[in-house]
Amino acid sequence: MAAEKEKIPLKFHRMSGVEQYAGLDDFLSRLHFRREVKSFSNSEIPIEIIKNAIKAAGTSPSGANQQPWSFVLVSDPKVKTQIINEVRSETRTLEQAPYIVVLLKQKYGVEKNDSGKTIKVKHYYPNESVGICGGFFITALNQAGLHYNLHKPVKSLSSILQRPENEEPFMVFSIGIADEWEDKKLHNLQDFVSFDFEIGSGKFEMSAEPSHESGPALSSADYYDRIKKRRNVRDFSQEEIPAPLLTKAFRALYSSPFSDSYRFAVISNEETKALIRDKAEEEEKKFYEEKITNEWRDVLKPLGTNWEKAHLTDAPYLIIGFKVTNDIGQESMFMDKNQPIVSSAVNTGILMSALHHANLCMLTHTPSPMVFLRDLLHRPKNEVPIVVIPVGYPADQCQVPNISKKPLKDILTTLTESEGEPS
Ligand SMILES: Cc1cc2nc3c(=O)[nH]c(=O)nc-3n(C[C@H](O)[C@H](O)[C@H](O)COP(=O)(O)O)c2cc1C
Repeated sequence: MAAEKEKIPLKFHRMSGVEQYAGLDDFLSRLHFRREVKSFSNSEIPIEIIKNAIKAAGTSPSGANQQPWSFVLVSDPKVKTQIINEVRSETRTLEQAPYIVVLLKQKYGVEKNDSGKTIKVKHYYPNESVGICGGFFITALNQAGLHYNLHKPVKSLSSILQRPENEEPFMVFSIGIADEWEDKKLHNLQDFVSFDFEIGSGKFEMSAEPSHESGPALSSADYYDRIKKRRNVRDFSQEEIPAPLLTKAFRALYSSPFSDSYRFAVISNEETKALIRDKAEEEEKKFYEEKITNEWRDVLKPLGTNWEKAHLTDAPYLIIGFKVTNDIGQESMFMDKNQPIVSSAVNTGILMSALHHANLCMLTHTPSPMVFLRDLLHRPKNEVPIVVIPVGYPADQCQVPNISKKPLKDILTTLTESEGEPS
């Protein structure tokens, strides 16, 4: 049984406003406007860069810290050919790309119990968690100056890659350096993000034309060092944060491969936040006192959480993430029921990475159930809330659970020419 662990002080270095903007601008300068790659150049890319991007992805938040993901990194031409045959991608980038990465979701965990018997462990919010991890991975690739296309995560890849039964492909990337791009229309962020306050002086802060070019790449090891400092914070200060800094962070979504099936609503109104807190605590009280299973209680124990959710009113802003069904654009790659959750979760990951670089703190909170948010915020039936993200500065003396992330060797299998066999 999991034990409640001691908490440790949050390592947070408060910056000046100027430094916060500089941090975000620096991050955004390396995110170019997302376009499909038409062809990859044959430049050599050291495998360590990809491995560091996977390490960065492995720092992402997950339901009850279960980290229900694994990655397969392929450069072996034989395996690549097998993948290409299965995925039957219309683009040629899979053939040309020096690397293919498959991100897999672990539908459930497999552990040994105290008597040594192998048992299945239920995973909580695996789609949301793996999607956010995918968003972290995409951001790490962008920051390192790499380009990618996405391909259909067909189920048959599991057997080609010899994956265990509990895993299924979630996202497939061809990765390299582009030398030709497809044209793409700019997606209008204003249609996907709404604020309950006026932004700027009537001019939408996010609408500045995003660049097709990106700034000089950051070493992927340095990016890993920056993103690994992110922690979920549950004790917020009530201090205001600069609203333009928050709104600017949304520009990171221009770099997303998903330009539909998601929505973010940003709430600052005290009354609305209080209503959300009341309702969330009502649901959470029922959950913690009546509905919680022993298994769920056990996985939550190391986090020391309870039904009280002061962060919903203490944090100056709440960002509510929605998946949007019946709104799947023509360019959607999944073209199936998974598109909305993948799109909204990946975009959550990209947004969280941006907010972290603005030196802001967050929590990925999933009140259970949370559909009440749709009605409270007057959203239509096809919008389903997936996460509530309070954003602000941490409270003085803020502490976080003393938990760790899986080492790279536990989440990554590499299939390179020299290795051939899964390692
Ligand atoms: C999809 C998802 C749902 C989560 N739900 C909650 C939640 O309802 N309450 C909470 O306190 N933390 C929640 N978390 C935060 C995780 O517990 C946290 O990410 C994990 O323990 C790892 O800690 P870290 O993010 O500080 O690295 C959630 C995280 C994810 C990705």
